[in-house]
Amino acid sequence: MTYTPDKTRYSNGMIYSYCGKSGLMLPKISLGLWHNFGHADSFEKSKDIIHCAFDRGITHFDLANNYGPPPGSAEENFGKIFKEDLSAHRDEIIISTKAGHAMWDGPYGDGSSRKNLISSLDQSLKRLQLEYVDIFYSHRYDGITPVEETMQALIDIVKSGKALYVGISKYPPHLAEKAYKILESQGVHCLIHQDRYNLFSRDVEKGTLYTAERNGVGFCAFSPLAQGLLTDRYLNGIPDDSRVAKNGFLKKEQVTPEKIAIIRRLNDMALKRGESLAQMSLSWLISDIRVTTVIVGASSVNQLINNLGTLESPTLSEEDLKSIRTIVEMNHF
Ligand SMILES: NC(=O)c1ccc[n+]([C@@H]2O[C@H](COP(=O)([O-])OP(=O)(O)OC[C@H]3O[C@@H](n4cnc5c(N)ncnc54)[C@H](OP(=O)(O)O)[C@@H]3O)[C@@H](O)[C@H]2O)c1
Repeated sequence: MTYTPDKTRYSNGMIYSYCGKSGLMLPKISLGLWHNFGHADSFEKSKDIIHCAFDRGITHFDLANNYGPPPGSAEENFGKIFKEDLSAHRDEIIISTKAGHAMWDGPYGDGSSRKNLISSLDQSLKRLQLEYVDIFYSHRYDGITPVEETMQALIDIVKSGKALYVGISKYPPHLAEKAYKILESQGVHCLIHQDRYNLFSRDVEKGTLYTAERNGVGFCAFSPLAQGLLTDRYLNGIPDDSRVAKNGFLKKEQVTPEKIAIIRRLNDMALKRGESLAQMSLSWLISDIRVTTVIVGASSVNQLINNLGTLESPTLSEEDLKSIRTIVEMNHF
């Protein structure tokens, strides 16, 4: 059946905010395609989730060269769905991809070299069947490549027209600051810093958020639900269709009784507030104005709809924030 986007998609409650000091707005909730969109997954289900996202005002889809499994297949699937159903809406959509983690054999398929970034983006554009992406990221600092080399590659990519904006991901704050300055010195502003941020992983509070804000760089939080832990998913054991059971990046060893005890307390608090734990966890992130967008993952349309419900969540008061902090700090893991 031909897909027709919902005409009310921009009047259904999605909030858009400017990304740092740029003129680009991003939706508060974006969709990430790390898990659940590869050849190993149901193509029809992936398509339904992407349609639902666009219908509800999600204009930002986050990919990387290696998303799948197998690596590259999330870009291939997204490219196919985009071409068939969304290409008429290209100018309404922000597509991001990244390079920097292991992707192909030999010395050039991994890391943050100019060779890797430029070749990888060319491969991504073929898989996505696009002429350009909106945001291209250096996926990580690899510990060896000088930041100057990686940033020069990003600058040249913008100048070549293959990406409209660039960003960095998981750079430690002092190198992020260096990267922002190198880019700026050649007239390319770093649009966004992407890093892990959720109630269980708060390292970015030690410098990344501050550095990004000071440099007018937006911040996007990945794994905002701690890969599903910050939901009701694991409260009664490990479901067969979950990321843990499917041997994704979330491992059984991470689902400890101590963690479940904390999740249960958070879940009770969320239910008392009349929302799901996923919604309260996302609200906690969104309540920080430095967070431009949260990139959620979803293995079903229902999960995505549930996450979008966050936009109607009751505001978290100072007292609520204190209670949440007390619960998550019950145990350090
Ligand atoms: N830059 C980087 O290095 C980096 C690293 C990681 C991720 N990312 C980006 O961030 C995106 C999101 O990461 P993530 O998938 O780990 O995010 P997440 O939102 O923390 O976790 C998504 C998982 O949580 C579960 N879930 C989601 N909504 C739910 C709900 N309402 N109720 C119950 N369970 C729910 C699902 O697990 P089940 O599959 O078990 O159902 C889903 O697959 C990625 O797709 C990627 O774009 C970037």
